Amino acid sequence: MAEPQSKPASIDSFEVRILRQEAPGRASYWERHRVDYEPQMNVISVLQKIAAKATTIDGRSVTPVAWDCNCLEEICGACTMVINGRVRQACSALVDNLLQQEDPNEIRLEPMSKFPVVRDLMVDRSRLFRALEKARAWVPVDGYYELGPGPRVSPEVQEQAYPLSKCMSCGCCLEACPQYTKVELTRLSGETDEEFQQRKRATYDQSFIGAHAISQIMLFNMHPTGKHEAAARLDQLTAPGGIQICGNAQNCVAVCPKEIPLTTSIARAGRATTAHVIKKWFDR
Ligand code: SF4
Ligand code: SF4
Ligand code: FES
Repeated sequence: MAEPQSKPASIDSFEVRILRQEAPGRASYWERHRVDYEPQMNVISVLQKIAAKATTIDGRSVTPVAWDCNCLEEICGACTMVINGRVRQACSALVDNLLQQEDPNEIRLEPMSKFPVVRDLMVDRSRLFRALEKARAWVPVDGYYELGPGPRVSPEVQEQAYPLSKCMSCGCCLEACPQYTKVELTRLSGETDEEFQQRKRATYDQSFIGAHAISQIMLFNMHPTGKHEAAARLDQLTAPGGIQICGNAQNCVAVCPKEIPLTTSIARAGRATTAHVIKKWFDR
């Protein structure tokens, strides 16, 4: 999290421009608000003030702005949005820094563009979580009884694994990736909720899995228990929407708030999938 700067000189209030959208599939529009300056605010506290006042800069009463947040300490990823054109977490984006280092006049807030908007700054990140399901991003257990101590993990493996384990599924890497394109589906007439969810999952499975999931595959494949499912995970990387889509633009690694070495994971995943495909060919 960035260290807070001191109060910007001669600022009593500032403008916040928000890209709003009333519901999925509706047109978006910009709305301007004025917020009184207080020291050490983050973007969530700015949004709380805006929602409480619910009045635009020209005195119009509006519905309160909607956004997502949970942990307020850059752990859950729920508050991820595009702030002044850069994707990041609203809870760790400090107003003093934004006004002093980026734009002294206004703060611009937009929802992430690669996920369907639910309302205003809230987006539906279910495709991101579906990719983790596909990637089997967990260590399998064969029961919840006392299993005794787990297998030992060498310090070398721990050193490689720990940075990857910091992923908070925020979506910044996906927002920045040129190969990760928005998929937005609307319910067909007569389609049940279950049918719609099934169609969504099938469509997500055909589209790019994303840097976060590739990195999680590398994390769980190096775990002594997780690696028993390594082949199934690598199969996902060679399936439609797999690692072959990555164009190595490296935008993902530049925006990851947890500084996860995503391009190192992608390179290792590339080597692992090549070895996996050759092995499968010889095993036939
Ligand atoms: S390296 Fe791959 S995953 Fe990362 S931004 Fe580029 S295309 Fe996307
Ligand atoms: S890899 Fe980084 S940017 Fe991508 S979802 Fe995880 S924490 Fe967010
Ligand atoms: S509220 Fe959890 S990361 Fe911002």
